[in-house]
Amino acid sequence: MRLGVNIDHVATIRNARGGKHPDPVRAARLAGKAGADGITVHLREDRRHISDNDICRLMNEVDLPINLEMAATDEMLGIALATRPNAICLVPEKRAELTTEGGLNLLTQGHHHLQKFIEEPKAVGIHVAVFIDADSGQIDAARALGVDVVELHTGAFCDSDGEACKTELARLGDAARAAVHCDLSCHAGHGLTFKTVTPVAAIPEISELNIGHFLIGEAIFSGLERSVARMRVLIDQAAE
Ligand code: PXP
Repeated sequence: MRLGVNIDHVATIRNARGGKHPDPVRAARLAGKAGADGITVHLREDRRHISDNDICRLMNEVDLPINLEMAATDEMLGIALATRPNAICLVPEKRAELTTEGGLNLLTQGHHHLQKFIEEPKAVGIHVAVFIDADSGQIDAARALGVDVVELHTGAFCDSDGEACKTELARLGDAARAAVHCDLSCHAGHGLTFKTVTPVAAIPEISELNIGHFLIGEAIFSGLERSVARMRVLIDQAAE
């Protein structure tokens, strides 16, 4: 199972003061050293954390696949086509939200609206994912749109406890199986921690986890390399 480390919040801390420290490129290199298979960044319309220059530097200076999370807008499509990350993940984006609150609703977004954001990157060799809730209707819609990958939003599972937690985990498992059954690769992420990662990583149909906020927060206490390395071990143990 691949681990994509999301370094957005290294840039959040940098931007709190302006300037260059802490540098997301340095964080990306350290994450790679500690066992990350790829680096994930979300270039938001308001550039609240990652900047355009960060994307260029990551592409030029880091020897790991870059996964660009982006809203389906013409501006972001232009940046993706110009910078050519290995993968993009289309996400919903609201200005006022603190983080990506839910998955894309492919049933109401409209087939035609999303088509070019999938076809044009695919035509130049970029893998295309859509970030969706664990729902069979969304998976059918993703397949019809021709994406390569679905990334399941794990936030509802991570935020729940008791019976609801079991229900959410079962929903993730069902959705992962449905995705792979349709020949889609299945990734997952959002809100994962050392505690919540284990049951998700144990779902065999999921091939990649994207994890950010917890790892960067934990790095304050233990350092980024130890934080990523511990997550790597937990994922590998769960996937055995
Ligand atoms: N996957 C996607 C598509 C996301 O939008 C995010 C948050 O940027 C993550 C994974 C990682 O979530 P977290 O930072 O809570 O680990």
